[in-house]
Amino acid sequence: MRILVCGGAGYIGSHACVVLAGRGHDLLVADNFANSSPRVLDRLRRIIGAPVAFRQADLRVRAEVDALFEGAGFDAVVHFAALKAVGDSCRRPLAYFDNNISGTIQLLQAMEAAGVKRLVFSSSATVYGDPERVPVREDAALRTTNPYGRTKLVMEQLIGDLCQSDPAFRAANLRYFNPVGAHPSGLIGEDPGGVPDNLMPYISQVAVGRRARLQVFGGDWPTIDGTGVRDYLHVMDLARAHADALDYLVGEDRSLTVNLGTGRGVSVLELARAFAGASGCDVPYEIVARRDGDVAEVYADPSLAQRLLGWRAELGVDAMCRDAWRWQSMNPDGYRGDAAEVGEAAASQRDAREALAVG
Ligand SMILES: NC(=O)c1ccc[n+]([C@@H]2O[C@H](COP(=O)([O-])OP(=O)(O)OC[C@H]3O[C@@H](n4cnc5c(N)ncnc54)[C@H](O)[C@@H]3O)[C@@H](O)[C@H]2O)c1
Repeated sequence: MRILVCGGAGYIGSHACVVLAGRGHDLLVADNFANSSPRVLDRLRRIIGAPVAFRQADLRVRAEVDALFEGAGFDAVVHFAALKAVGDSCRRPLAYFDNNISGTIQLLQAMEAAGVKRLVFSSSATVYGDPERVPVREDAALRTTNPYGRTKLVMEQLIGDLCQSDPAFRAANLRYFNPVGAHPSGLIGEDPGGVPDNLMPYISQVAVGRRARLQVFGGDWPTIDGTGVRDYLHVMDLARAHADALDYLVGEDRSLTVNLGTGRGVSVLELARAFAGASGCDVPYEIVARRDGDVAEVYADPSLAQRLLGWRAELGVDAMCRDAWRWQSMNPDGYRGDAAEVGEAAASQRDAREALAVG
């Protein structure tokens, strides 16, 4: 299939590109680098063994989105492009509504105009807020606790309404739990700017010496050791689910909404210990106050994804930590790199321009 990958330079999108290209799909990546680096394109070329076609575009700008579709003949769109930091969304809700919701409306309108009828959408377990019971099933109440979560819920609803109004439109809403880890090559991974909002990059930055200690938000939750429990899943398992979802949209010709998680809850301290074991580094921590909007325990019931897609998470916590550590130790400053990598950066920019010409 010919696939437009929006937000494909980001953390999950770049890993999905590896899997999608590996299954023989023909990709065009579109991104505005709001939260990613052009260097990803060079790293992808090295992993895939061929350049990935790329166009810089901001989904909020309709002309730029329309230009992506001109003569492209896409069979499907995979939509990762969003702002995703919960705390930031509380400080800048309008920026999140504008980027995530307006961007999605422009994309859906451009898909409609171009007659592209298949969409795989990055949703999130955040749509469940503080769930009444765990493991969380897809039919649990949807009640978000922060502006980021509300953008995801509104986007799901927009897509649902489009499916209702157009009997030929098919969408896969993939509700990710907590993606962590990196491609086993160590060439791509999660590279947050500033203070990481997610636990794994925070732990790995402590291990590599970029931060003094891990701040654990709350040690008095009603959980196994008092720290928050989440469902961490390896980003390569998650990436594979996107290819499986595309196959489902084509093969079954139906829409779906599924949880993507391992079904196993892991506490903050369990993850920190596993990371210390995988890296051989100390991960000092301190317990600090809870954060507004956080919840005690969230993990998935992933059985629907197994039933519909034949997908299940295969990689455990040790593989998640090992691969996150390989990425972090090979790239202590993420894609920003150091002076020794300036040549690589230049090559990456050149590749990006070449890919632009291809795209
Ligand atoms: N990482 C997680 O923990 C997690 C969990 C659940 C859901 N999600 C969702 O998965 C998707 C991907 O997440 P990620 O972790 O890879 O984030 P990311 O920030 O690494 O990737 C998102 C990409 O989209 C791009 N982008 C953002 N706004 C854009 C716009 N207006 N136009 C074009 N490009 C734009 C960014 O530059 C970035 O490359 C997001 O939609 C996110 O909400 C992520």
